[in-house]
Amino acid sequence: MVNSKCAGSTGIFTFSICEAGNATTGRHDVKRIALLTSGGDCSGMNAAIRAVVRSALSEGMEVVGITKGYRGLLEGHFEQLTTRSVSGILQRGGTMLQSARCQSMHDEAGQQQAVANLKAQRIDGLVVIGGDGSLHGAHALHNRGVRVIGIPASIDNDIRFTDMSLGVDTALNNIIYAVDCLKDTASSHDRTFVVETMGRNCGYLAVVAAVACGAEYALIPEAPFDIDEICSNLNKRFREGRDNAIIMVAEGVASAQQISDQIRNCLGDIETRIMVLGHYQRGGSPSTFDRLLGARFGVAAVNALRQQRSGEMVGLSDSLIQLTPLFEVLNSGRRPIDETLLNLSHTLGI
Ligand code: F6P
Repeated sequence: MVNSKCAGSTGIFTFSICEAGNATTGRHDVKRIALLTSGGDCSGMNAAIRAVVRSALSEGMEVVGITKGYRGLLEGHFEQLTTRSVSGILQRGGTMLQSARCQSMHDEAGQQQAVANLKAQRIDGLVVIGGDGSLHGAHALHNRGVRVIGIPASIDNDIRFTDMSLGVDTALNNIIYAVDCLKDTASSHDRTFVVETMGRNCGYLAVVAAVACGAEYALIPEAPFDIDEICSNLNKRFREGRDNAIIMVAEGVASAQQISDQIRNCLGDIETRIMVLGHYQRGGSPSTFDRLLGARFGVAAVNALRQQRSGEMVGLSDSLIQLTPLFEVLNSGRRPIDETLLNLSHTLGI
């Protein structure tokens, strides 16, 4: 029996063999593992940390936390973690291990130093929790002989081979809360709000939020748009008596200010305001979905290490946790936006 179904607070979900405890019985060679969070933080990282620590301890392994991501790895910031170390973190956003962006991990010298520091600490398995750049670092370490498993964590949802990365669901909930508030004030003043979401070159947050908030438009890097057509539709909308409009713009397209200026140039009489959601999107108490995903990813990563696997990423595929080689994850090109999702936002928009 490979998969098992289970009813939970978020509906029916399916567990796969990589999540099952005692997937291998008896002795294993992985005695001491380390973990780090790297790149942009997101909600749910703490749930993954907790799951890695507690499942590894329950398998008799020692667990070492590396603070401040790859920078901490290069500078030797290692600390032994116990089950108590991860008490009370589940409901907290951010990461208890802190994070950093580390340029030196792109260099040969940095990678060699990382391997040497892991060896000196007698680490025989590493879990890297982070986004695209962090997974590149994990892959480089794997190529240098470190046993490593990646956990996708980034609000951008731009990582392939996982339907959802950690932190995306909470970020969407944050965005939706903010836009609902904006709609109240927009409709009191017949205003248009241009709302800028994060996501780097990925429009996932903007388009999903547009559907969930009833925004008129989602301007994303993956799909062309015509600003003149948008302005003429906005004009028509307000003349018909509608009292607000919301335009979501992904940061990879333009800034909210630039889009707002274009609308103002075209339609001077429609009042336009902007909201840049910025880092607010990354914080806050994780949603049930992200807590559960963090727990599942963490346990699956430890199981993979225990089975002596390396150079792979855990991911969610059709509600199952699956492992994919990092090489494939990182070399499969840009993650496309689902056409059906795009169509949904077009159909339900203006
Ligand atoms: O990758 C996550 C992310 O939040 C992006 O959406 C955003 O462009 C970037 O990180 C911001 O980076 P920083 O926190 O370094 O300003």
